[in-house]
Amino acid sequence: MSDIPNLYIAMISVHGLIRSENIELGRDADTGGQIKYVIELAKFLAEHHTVDRVDLFTRQIVDKKVSTDYAQSEESIAPGASIIRKPFGPKRYLRKEVLWPYLDHFANEILKHFRAIRRMPDILHAHYADAGYVGSKLAQLLGIPLIFTGHSLGRVKRKRLLEQGMTEEAVAARYNIYERIEAEETALATASMVVTSTHQEVEEQYQLYEQYQPETMEVIPPGTDLSRFNPSRIPLPRYPYYSSLKRFLNDPNKPMILAISRADERKNIAALIHAYAERKTLRERANLVIVAGNRDDLMQLNSGAREVIRNILYLIDKYDLYGSIAFPKHHAADDVPNMYRMCAKTQGVFVNPALTEPFGLTLIEAAACGAPIVATNDGGPRDIISNCRNGILIDPLNTGEITEAIETLLLHRDQWRQFSQNGLKGVRRYYSWMNHAKTYLQRIKRHMKTSRRKSFYISSGKRLLKADRLVITDIDNTLLGDMESLHELMDLIHNRSNIVGFGIATGRHIESAVNVLQEWDVPRPDLLITSVGSEIHYGDDLKQDMDWDRHIDYKWEPESLREFMASFPGIELQPEENQRKHKVSYYIDPSIAPSRREIVRLMRENRFHVKVIQSHQQYLDFLPLRASKGLAIWYMASKWGIPMEHILTAGDSGNDEEMLKGYNLSVVVGNYSAELEPLRKNPTVYFAKASYAGGILEGMNYFDFMGEIKMPEEGNA
Ligand code: GLC
Ligand code: MG
Repeated sequence: MSDIPNLYIAMISVHGLIRSENIELGRDADTGGQIKYVIELAKFLAEHHTVDRVDLFTRQIVDKKVSTDYAQSEESIAPGASIIRKPFGPKRYLRKEVLWPYLDHFANEILKHFRAIRRMPDILHAHYADAGYVGSKLAQLLGIPLIFTGHSLGRVKRKRLLEQGMTEEAVAARYNIYERIEAEETALATASMVVTSTHQEVEEQYQLYEQYQPETMEVIPPGTDLSRFNPSRIPLPRYPYYSSLKRFLNDPNKPMILAISRADERKNIAALIHAYAERKTLRERANLVIVAGNRDDLMQLNSGAREVIRNILYLIDKYDLYGSIAFPKHHAADDVPNMYRMCAKTQGVFVNPALTEPFGLTLIEAAACGAPIVATNDGGPRDIISNCRNGILIDPLNTGEITEAIETLLLHRDQWRQFSQNGLKGVRRYYSWMNHAKTYLQRIKRHMKTSRRKSFYISSGKRLLKADRLVITDIDNTLLGDMESLHELMDLIHNRSNIVGFGIATGRHIESAVNVLQEWDVPRPDLLITSVGSEIHYGDDLKQDMDWDRHIDYKWEPESLREFMASFPGIELQPEENQRKHKVSYYIDPSIAPSRREIVRLMRENRFHVKVIQSHQQYLDFLPLRASKGLAIWYMASKWGIPMEHILTAGDSGNDEEMLKGYNLSVVVGNYSAELEPLRKNPTVYFAKASYAGGILEGMNYFDFMGEIKMPEEGNA
């Protein structure tokens, strides 16, 4: 098959500090291996002849505490590859766990960007759960294939924390773990291809997911930038970092036992110090060099890192390692390759004793510079050592084993040389970014063949009735319920019809919606989103949007869904007239039926690509994964060029949730149903005191929707 030429790949990586030069690896928990991974991937994909352009979308950060580099809206990585930074949420730097409420805004900014450059990507590639959320939304809207790389997974973390004795509540509160897991499930459901680094990741980690689909999983180990990581002939004393080490070591020329990681409990650095300190021969023959992030004032670090460093300092003192251990406070990203080289030059060993190691990028880098490795017997190191045969696996909890392994390599020169050579060769063969990019593009070609690439994006066409802004409201219990305020609202919209358009978004089907509006004397809306977002109709002649209809049809199998649902207690099919092409609806009795969560789980387990929507503790709707009131609005708005900030939605119950929480303004009317309570966290959602249309009027007033339109400060949420 011939190559698909001129690819435009949009990558998304939301959190941490991302820049192309001098990456601040280890500065905090969010600025780790993933940052480097995405930069390198972008660079090497762009080098491939079939790729025209790679844009890496991330968050723009304006904060005195971090470099102004992160405030630049664009930065070139290499020819054809750029970082594009978009503002969303508060301007300041935030940890990844608190970014969730702002991600819809981010998705919208990315969409605006595509529109501005007048080009849609051929592939979206999302990294980590947060980008998975954004990427799924965009992919579902635009009909573009999504690639997902989890990097690390919420279910794995949750399991580990529970095993360590943390309670469910604490895990949820501290890490927002359920939002993360939900986003991962959605990303797995949406993705055409999932890239993992090791086989173990697939078998032990992704396996925990309801949406585990092994046929979409591709193991493509990360590459190493061989132009940065390679051996060198420079004599030891000429390394710039040599003088920094001289401050610590009596004899810097001794073999160097090197460990580089973040200052994190899980990196298990203390075990290495015990292993070294307790064997006299090791202390005599070799130096220990520990690089654990950068620090100025210990007291200003977060408590986790502070504890780790305090403990290292304690052990140095306890074992009296002065003169044979180096524990530098600072290093630059560019010092790292030199450290590996110095380790190789002194015929030392690189050690990674982390409690778990799914990945092991540092091991590959060390090997690329010629250092043999000793590493935890876990997924990443196992793959690396079985490919390269360049080191020894150890049990990280057994310090005796660590000692033995290091000693074996230091004492047996032949074996050292063999491992060093094997590593140099193996890395070039298995872990170069160039090979990674090649494999990646081959595999995606295969997956793109099976996923639909049709993009319905239409940038031309008239705007929806020349509207500058749009009020879109649910019908039952929102627009309708109180005659007086309804008339007031309709008059207001009618009098300003030169600027404001009017739409409804309802669970009813089109005929029923039209009828009830007539009964209440409501003028025909400009836009009718019906059957819970599965159909869109326009204007007087109720013309249906067939692009939407085709778009959401993806992986929709209503017959088998109905068959599957037939046997559940407390769930009964609604009358045939409520069953639509893209909507299957039931009445539900929550006291005997399985919970919504449980139904979602069953859907995923049985590979139904559906959205499950419950309203008023009474209705249960199934829609295609790409449909909902919220997605219908987003689609319609981008099709007609109406900014999301100029849309106000109003609703009262569960089937309104998605359209209320998107990056538009919204009002929850006073008479709302309990499912919507969690939306109070959302900065763009206003909870009105008044009921029905009165609530909508109150919300319009609150946002000054007919005037300047006040977008609430997200930072105040
Ligand atoms: C409307 C529809 C019904 C749906 C409910 C909740 O009442 O007629 O089919 O289940 O809205 O979305
Ligand atoms: Mg309603």
